[in-house]
Amino acid sequence: MSDQKFSTNALHAGHDTTVHGGTRAVPIYQSTAYVFDNSDHAADLFSLAKPGYIYTRLNNPTNDILEQRLATLEGGIAAVATSSGTAAISTALLVLLRAGDHIVASSSLYGGTYNLLANTLPRLGITTTFVDPLDPSDFGKAVQKNTKAFFVESLGNPKLDVLDLKAISSEAKVAKVPFIVDNTVATPALLNPIEHGANIVIHSLTKYINGNGTSLGGIIIDAGTFDYGNGNFPEFTEPSPGYHGLVYHEALGASAFIAKVRVEGLRDFGGAASPFNSWQIIQGLETLPIRMKQHSKNALALAQWLQGREEVAWVNYPGLKTSAYYEQAEAYLPKGQSGIVTFGVKGGFESAKKIADETKIFSLLANIGDTKSLIIHPASTTHQQLGDAEQESTGVTKDLIRLSVGLEHIDDLKKDLENAFATIDRSVLA
Ligand SMILES: Cc1ncc(COP(=O)(O)O)c(C=O)c1O
Repeated sequence: MSDQKFSTNALHAGHDTTVHGGTRAVPIYQSTAYVFDNSDHAADLFSLAKPGYIYTRLNNPTNDILEQRLATLEGGIAAVATSSGTAAISTALLVLLRAGDHIVASSSLYGGTYNLLANTLPRLGITTTFVDPLDPSDFGKAVQKNTKAFFVESLGNPKLDVLDLKAISSEAKVAKVPFIVDNTVATPALLNPIEHGANIVIHSLTKYINGNGTSLGGIIIDAGTFDYGNGNFPEFTEPSPGYHGLVYHEALGASAFIAKVRVEGLRDFGGAASPFNSWQIIQGLETLPIRMKQHSKNALALAQWLQGREEVAWVNYPGLKTSAYYEQAEAYLPKGQSGIVTFGVKGGFESAKKIADETKIFSLLANIGDTKSLIIHPASTTHQQLGDAEQESTGVTKDLIRLSVGLEHIDDLKKDLENAFATIDRSVLA
């Protein structure tokens, strides 16, 4: 499958019609558990001596197809699906790290991830230093003796900064830590972080990959390229008391991390994917390359139009020649820069709130990556629980509106925003 092109793999990878009962469409295996042949067969499955299905928290044939398909599309060796993008991030980090460990992360992250790293993980003794991702050498400078991972978003939400993944991965190699990339906003249709040195790729499947706004999901994809036997990761080189003394690095080699995610991460933290949601996400995945092309086209056209509006103070879209991230976007996102556009509106907080209230096609809600267009004013909603300095560092200013540009006709999207712009206090334009 991996020899075939992206659009072919998006439709077929992981689904074998001879194994899956001749089904042309991927079936939903909506079963919690699987019948064992006998007790010896069960014992072999539990001891990992034989592959097979046990219980849907650990594995499931529909989830399996989704996992194989996304591993193929990202160029990884294997993947584990989870109940949400947040479950993917927390499970990956909790499998990798222990109390006393440290992460170096980009300061430009989705608000939920920022909260996990800044406020929740420290309660478990796992701390994070946030660095400006635009200077890759800052990652290296922030490394401590106990640093065990680098974490970034390839295209930051909502800052839309396009990171120099190659340069950051070089810093990770020197620090001998895995480089984890959340590739949710770019999607594998536009960018493959593994090609640029990522060791682990994470997605919220809830967004573009599902695309239809019906189902939560997440995934952890392992490139199989990190050496967990480098002396820094006792979790992988010492016998695991939670798995009858298994030494992951020794027994599983390149698959050590992703195997541990499944057999310990899913078993102990329970963030398993629902087969029904995986099935929905597979429907979306089939059309991902075409959708991402159109999302990118619409977003660029709208960003260019916004630049000419008197109500707009600034526009941020990495495909704009005026963007600070344009050069990086040319290098990392030549196929398109995805569907998120942010802009600042004259009149600040109040004007921005008003516009978000007044659009009709752009729905006011906290999500991105739907085929339908979405709008939000982060400072009064998703990011309101962060302090001013934290809002600033995650790229959220008071006047910022975030659009997730959908697949509607561009003329209707412009008209909708034009009508909303007409409702703001015009004195701010003077
Ligand atoms: C970049 C990014 N990563 C992760 C998440 C979390 O995903 P989920 O909502 O599926 O838990 C989000 C959610 O908006 C996101 O934008």
